[in-house]
Amino acid sequence: MKRDMRAMKKGRVIAVAGKGGTGKTAIAALLIRELLRSRAQEEICVLAVDADPDSNLPEALGISYAKTVGDIREALLEEKQRDAALDIWSQFEGKIAEIIVEEEHYDLLVMGRPEGPGCYCPVNHIIRMLIDTLTKNYDYTVIDCEAGLEHLSRRTTRDVDLMLVVLDMTLKSLKTALRLKQIAEELHVDVTKLLTIANKIPPGAETMLRAEASQYGLEIEEVIPFDAVIQDYDFKGIPLVKLPDDAPSVIAVRRIAERIK
Ligand SMILES: Nc1ncnc2c1ncn2[C@@H]1O[C@H](COP(=O)(O)OP(=O)(O)OP(=O)(O)O)[C@@H](O)[C@H]1O
Ligand SMILES: [Mg+2]
Repeated sequence: MKRDMRAMKKGRVIAVAGKGGTGKTAIAALLIRELLRSRAQEEICVLAVDADPDSNLPEALGISYAKTVGDIREALLEEKQRDAALDIWSQFEGKIAEIIVEEEHYDLLVMGRPEGPGCYCPVNHIIRMLIDTLTKNYDYTVIDCEAGLEHLSRRTTRDVDLMLVVLDMTLKSLKTALRLKQIAEELHVDVTKLLTIANKIPPGAETMLRAEASQYGLEIEEVIPFDAVIQDYDFKGIPLVKLPDDAPSVIAVRRIAERIK
């Protein structure tokens, strides 16, 4: 995608979080597709960020990548060890721009290996600053987060406009969704809005799930049905962005895209 750096962009950041296997990657990929489809006339710019160290957003989007932000960080830190005078900060921005995969309608950035726990390495601070700046060049940035809660404590996804919290028909994922909400409140995370989404819901199970969730004080705001076509595509290795327009999961994600301003 050719980014026009001069034009004013919305700079909206949307993170997709939740327990492992709940469907974060599928939802992130379909959301990118629906944002682009519904706003085709506006010619919006979208940045896809794969923030899961076990990256699979590129596969869901059907594109490949060569290097991650983690690779750049490691290489620059190694260089710095050999040459203490090296000013790595000045090199970062250009290097990140080099590894962004430019597709026709959107760009992709793969984060790769995360910083270690309790790592106060200033490089990570620089990375966050660069990503903050980068997102301002796009109308929407969609971040596919790693499973669980770590990304919140590492601050990689703390300042987002909307966090989609995904759960499925398991109590464990419901509890992770609750923890995500609580941590966001405790850390005073600057998340303007959380949207709780139940995914992979079989026919007739919605009422039961809503009742269970409400016992924990959690309101489910969107439901994406169990969609056999997603499983079929994933099994055959077909990118999920190629799902038919009338697939039940696509229709449900379209509703979520419509909620996003
Ligand atoms: N609506 C759906 N209907 C049926 N299957 C689904 C649906 N959404 C996702 N799946 C399936 O659930 C599995 C997990 O989906 P996905 O990889 O998107 O989850 P994830 O939360 O990103 O997982 P991870 O935490 O491992 O990154 C996949 O096999 C996918 O095909
Ligand atoms: Mg995933």
